[in-house]
Amino acid sequence: MGKFQVMDHPLIQHKLTIIRNKNCGTKVFREVVDEITMLMAYDVARDMPLKDVEIETPIAKTTVKTLAGKKVAIVPILRAGIGMVDGIMKLIPAAKIGHIGMYRDEETLEPHEYFVKLPADIDQRQIFVVDPMLATGGSAIMAIDALKKRGATNIKFVCLVSAPEGVKALREAHPDIDIYTAALDDHLNENGYIVPGLGDAGDRLFGTK
Ligand code: PRP
Ligand code: URA
Repeated sequence: MGKFQVMDHPLIQHKLTIIRNKNCGTKVFREVVDEITMLMAYDVARDMPLKDVEIETPIAKTTVKTLAGKKVAIVPILRAGIGMVDGIMKLIPAAKIGHIGMYRDEETLEPHEYFVKLPADIDQRQIFVVDPMLATGGSAIMAIDALKKRGATNIKFVCLVSAPEGVKALREAHPDIDIYTAALDDHLNENGYIVPGLGDAGDRLFGTK
């Protein structure tokens, strides 16, 4: 079974409180999502493989560690996942980006896939799927289905706010993947929104409501 980790570092909790507030405007929301994602990326990348290299410091020759250069892909689930790409890119600038377009039908809450564009060698990459919200889990499950259909095996899912219902559904559908969340909230309401949550992440990031 994959890992399930709530990344509740004080800085992350503090920043999450800023964006949960309904009075937080689009500019600050976007900036703080970026900051939280960067803080999360630090730990999500903890098991990236290292290799030895020989270098010369001003004092002596030495053998030290460097990233083994395993290829990484960041895959945001459109739209809201886009807000989390730069935060990871700041730490892993050589990562390639894939996009998966997914929207939830507001009545049925069923996810619909409308766009998939991935690096050609996606099957060989360590993949970070990013989306701020894990609500029913439908969008994440379908996005990971789309990746596995194309040969992806090494997948981590990174979100900001999750609901117990979504975590359970995602773990049942894809028990092999690791899930990282900044907060595990209480429940989903009758409209499929996370409570207390932060509202509609896409609308808050892009100012569309
Ligand atoms: C939101 C969010 C997730 C999805 C989560 O996207 O960004 O992708 O809902 O809900 P689920 O776990 O119940 O599937 P939305 O469908 O609102 O699309 P948007 O990002 O384009 O606004
Ligand atoms: N999608 C969102 O953007 N917010 C929620 O609370 C649930 C799904």
